[in-house]
Amino acid sequence: MKLSDNKATLSFSNGKSPVELPVYEGTVGPDVIDIRKLYGQTGMFTYDPGFLSTASCQSAITYIDGDKGELLYRGYPIEQLAVNCDYLETCYLLLYGELPNAAQKEEFDQRVTRHTMINEQMQFFLRGFRRDAHPMAILTGLVGAMSAFYHDSTDINNPEHRDIAAIRLIAKLPTLVAMAYKYGVGAPYQYPQNNLSYAGNFLRMMFGNPCEEYKVNPVLERAMDRIFILHADHEQNASTSTVRLCGSSGTNPFAAIAAGVACLWGPAHGGANEACLNMLEQIQASGGVAKVGEFMEKVKDKSSGVKLMGFGHRVYKNYDPRAKLMQETCNEVLAELGLEKDPLFALAKQLEKIALEDDYFVQRKLYPNVDFYSGIVQRAIGIPVNLFTGIFALARTVGWIAQLNEMISDPEYKIGRPRQLFTGHTTRTVKPLAERG
Ligand code: CMC
Repeated sequence: MKLSDNKATLSFSNGKSPVELPVYEGTVGPDVIDIRKLYGQTGMFTYDPGFLSTASCQSAITYIDGDKGELLYRGYPIEQLAVNCDYLETCYLLLYGELPNAAQKEEFDQRVTRHTMINEQMQFFLRGFRRDAHPMAILTGLVGAMSAFYHDSTDINNPEHRDIAAIRLIAKLPTLVAMAYKYGVGAPYQYPQNNLSYAGNFLRMMFGNPCEEYKVNPVLERAMDRIFILHADHEQNASTSTVRLCGSSGTNPFAAIAAGVACLWGPAHGGANEACLNMLEQIQASGGVAKVGEFMEKVKDKSSGVKLMGFGHRVYKNYDPRAKLMQETCNEVLAELGLEKDPLFALAKQLEKIALEDDYFVQRKLYPNVDFYSGIVQRAIGIPVNLFTGIFALARTVGWIAQLNEMISDPEYKIGRPRQLFTGHTTRTVKPLAERG
């Protein structure tokens, strides 16, 4: 980061001397005021719950311009990556900073492919879960458990360990997600098949069975790959910040990524695609398109607690560029499967149209986010609703590990330790039990 000529001055109305704070410039995006010495200089903290105005780190991986609706991975627009690259090229880009050339791509693809199998013992670990456990509960456990299986890649301070942990995580997540699914439905696990693409292999592990040959449908394979690309990274969101904070203690990469999986599960974050599809199904069950107006009134009534899932974003105050690409994929998949008249797709388009014209949404700059259409695509492919967030976790693993590795490689990194504005009791004396009222 570059020191700016501009400086910020913080003055106080109580006569305390003003403090001059350095300002740093990034390559693009808002400048930051450096408050690292603020406490030392003033004895005060800053207060920013939800980190609305706080840059928690410097990063060169992903850039979002929320007003323009722009998303760049290492400088490349998501629209170009989604059309010209596959997911593993995107992983290489996020991890190493540049797109691979043909030889690098071949080597990277082979490396990932050779790590897709998991330690056989993990099957027994999986069997300890109830069959009706939520896949995200299983995944949180399985990813954390990887630290008990791969001892040669748990030293976060060793760059080779970090690299092999990254490859293992990217390679094994599809196997783990598919196993969690097969376990839930009581079907036999499918071993990975190395002659298939990353997305094709995942589809086969999900939908293949040992009795028949599975033919990968190229349209669905491309759709799956696009879902992975669009979810691969999204700068300092809740789960990524969780991974960074967790990893900042020096814990092993598998434990840090498991923390990210746990955070992603929530409906305000990765769980939104599941919540969005449930919402569409509920509207459909209550009368479909005819009930859209009534539902929208509920959304606008704050006392109802109902939100239009798949709409709104902390950073995007414009159309989420991923939502446009997802809508395109949605059209392709539904056409391929002969589901053009899918009632949920019609419902989603109707909701989107109304919302984009409604003052409530316009004033608050609420637009569809990536989750609005991703659920419809996944459902059409045959992925059960409760696995949607697991697919998101699979795709986001590369972003988490790239961000974690970036943090650990930064010589300035410190354990994360936010402070607080204390509003509780001051010191008081413990009364003996008999004297307490
Ligand atoms: N439906 C109805 N009202 C909404 C919605 C929504 N989906 N999202 C925001 N609002 C309202 C909100 O009530 C507030 O209104 P007011 O100013 O009158 O109090 C205003 O818009 C600003 O919202 P906010 O809650 O301050 O915004 P935020 O940045 O804290 O929250 C969000 C962002 C994503 C949590 C929120 O928009 C939301 O809950 N959306 C639905 C869940 C969803 O789709 N999440 C997926 C995010 S994209 C995938 C990912 O990155 O994980």
